[in-house]
Amino acid sequence: MRFPPRFIACSLTLVAAACGGDPATPADDDDDAPDAGAEVDVDAAPDDEGGLPDEVADVLDLPDDPFDYTDTLPAHFQTAFVRGLDNTPGDNGITDDGATLGRVLFYDTTLSANDTVACASCHDQSTAFTDPARFSTGFDGGLTGRNSMPVMEARFYRNGRFFWDERAATLEEQVLLPIQNEVEMGLTLDELVERVAGRPYYGYLFEQAFGDPDVTSERIALALAQFSRAIVSYRSRYDVGLAEAGDIALPFPSFTAEENLGKDLFLGRGGCAVCHLEAGPPGPGPRPNQAIFLIDIPTNNGLDATTNVDDNGRGDVTDLPQDAGRFKSPSLRNVALGAPYMHDGRFSTLEQVVRHYSTGVQAHPNLDPRLRAPGGAPRRLDLTDDEVAALVAFLETLTDEALLADERFADPFKR
Ligand code: HEC
Ligand code: HEC
Repeated sequence: MRFPPRFIACSLTLVAAACGGDPATPADDDDDAPDAGAEVDVDAAPDDEGGLPDEVADVLDLPDDPFDYTDTLPAHFQTAFVRGLDNTPGDNGITDDGATLGRVLFYDTTLSANDTVACASCHDQSTAFTDPARFSTGFDGGLTGRNSMPVMEARFYRNGRFFWDERAATLEEQVLLPIQNEVEMGLTLDELVERVAGRPYYGYLFEQAFGDPDVTSERIALALAQFSRAIVSYRSRYDVGLAEAGDIALPFPSFTAEENLGKDLFLGRGGCAVCHLEAGPPGPGPRPNQAIFLIDIPTNNGLDATTNVDDNGRGDVTDLPQDAGRFKSPSLRNVALGAPYMHDGRFSTLEQVVRHYSTGVQAHPNLDPRLRAPGGAPRRLDLTDDEVAALVAFLETLTDEALLADERFADPFKR
């Protein structure tokens, strides 16, 4: 006999549900839960009476009522400019049940051909949803061609394109590509649907998210995109300091002198913010974006003087010479945890990155004008060692411990 332990657990769930076991759940009008001990069909366990069905609770550590994924973001995320960066499509707003399904999918090795790799394998919460390895290892031991990118602030990238070369036109399109990638996860979409539909815990999760238990690759994409958009970093020391000071341009009382110097360099002479804190054309008044540390389009930051024939970035996608060697930059939030750096992971420390901008920028034909001196040669900042250290110290204030510890984005599997 194989059913007793499961049968007992199920009966307990039903008793709890019939007794209104979860006080937060409003009484349900249809009160036809079977009595404990009656013929119990495990699969027919009522879903809307408080507890999670056994086939979910056995495998997943999820709350009875889903977590809230629609955070009220602080004031600096509420400016018209920042709202204008939001790429959430009208038909895929974040719902708590959709993001919960996305969370489970994100951590599920079912999404790879041999059950070894999940999205989270290369996008680890403890390193701000990126991979500390220079190149990531796929399901069959192969290596990715580029450094993993953080899955964070995806929602606030206005052009809505993803990957270093922006080959994915939307986040909904992007999230299915690693699954089908022959190095990363190695499945066809048909195989994906079959595998996901074969896991007993998904029927309930799809029903909660979409109203019925049907598994489709489109729904998988919608849920993964909702989860990815929900990962917003806004609780760093930078955010606390900004709330106190009211304006990024003012000294932050809770920052050290070194961190405030680094902030001034980031905004001013270091010339980082013109790219990494996109704010449109300069205007009077406070900077309209003090929240999103992203650039508007892929560009070339002078890593090499010539185009790399093996990886031409955006140029490989558009075939336009003016796009050769251009790459999207990830968000600088949590960047201190995101080593190694750049599309090919060539720098292992932030100090190396800052020294690149100080004295190492190369004269690539498509080098961004913002990194050129008057006359067109690569700009030389010649930062002192103290200034390099100050810029690094400022970048470290963008680390968001609360996000790294946030249960809503953590592995839900009981492993
Ligand atoms: C084997 C490692 C690996 C796995 C598994 C993986 N990724 Fe990635 N991810 C990467 C790498 C590497 C890149 C950058 C690739 C490129 O630009 O060519 C990336 C890029 C991304 C980006 C783009 C971020 C941006 O700002 O443009 C998103 C979003 C993303 N992955 C989400 C996911 C999701 C969702 C899954 C699971 C369905 C997943 N990844 C699985 C390695 C991985
Ligand atoms: C012209 C625009 C531009 C300017 C100015 C600029 N950057 Fe960048 N930055 C980029 C681009 C583009 C990338 C990605 C390049 C790549 O990987 O090929 C990047 C990448 C980075 C990365 C690596 C991110 C990661 O996760 O791999 C860091 C850190 C960084 N920049 C910091 C800075 C700092 C600090 C400054 C000022 C000293 C600065 N940048 C100035 C465009 C710029």
